[in-house]
Amino acid sequence: MSKVKLRIDIVCAVPQSLDSFISTSIVGRAQKSGQVEIVVHNLHDYASDKYKHIDDTPYGGGAGMIIMCEPVFACIDRLKSEREYDEIIYLTPDGIPLKQHVCNELSTLRNIILLAGHYKGIDQRIRDLLITREISVGDYVLTGGELAAAVLTDAVVRLIPGVVGDAESVLDDSFMEGMLDSPHYTKPVLFRGLSVPDVLVGGNHALIKKWRTEQSELKTKERRPDLLDNIETGE
Ligand code: ADE
Repeated sequence: MSKVKLRIDIVCAVPQSLDSFISTSIVGRAQKSGQVEIVVHNLHDYASDKYKHIDDTPYGGGAGMIIMCEPVFACIDRLKSEREYDEIIYLTPDGIPLKQHVCNELSTLRNIILLAGHYKGIDQRIRDLLITREISVGDYVLTGGELAAAVLTDAVVRLIPGVVGDAESVLDDSFMEGMLDSPHYTKPVLFRGLSVPDVLVGGNHALIKKWRTEQSELKTKERRPDLLDNIETGE
């Protein structure tokens, strides 16, 4: 198997929440076979006080705790002293929404840090001084950035050649052409009164391709008309 291509360092407050994601699933296998290296860092290991605090109350008042600069800088400065990073990404609901083209781009890089927030947020100076990109995985708020980091990692790692068995299946995914995927069927031909569309069992590949494109367009028009506007801009 080829050498490690992509290294992802995930810096977070609750590393245990990533255990099953990293050890099972396709990502776990990709790690074992050396196509990707994922290293999780616990911010509490970089706390400077004996109680391992990594957060404090916000200046100006308000609810929630803010992750402090010190442990984040201690961890990320150490990583940066060991290798060069292409991107240092902060996962946050107020980031730029994650899109397939961003995953494609990230999958070609060599070293990435993902910083997962927790509590109310992180000190703005971390964002100003360390972070190169801020990404949201959707318009909803998770309890922590770990799940968001897992989502991003999964979406990126599966694009590395050889990680998903069938390269074509990755290329055919929803969003790859800027459109949603067409419907899929497998055996049997008839199930509970519903048949597989004739064209898919007819063996005419040109017609099948045409049907799939039409179905993709129909579904995209109905569910995500915004995607059609983006096709021209490549976003
Ligand atoms: N942390 C909490 N919610 C998030 C979201 N929607 N995207 C990225 N990081 C988050």
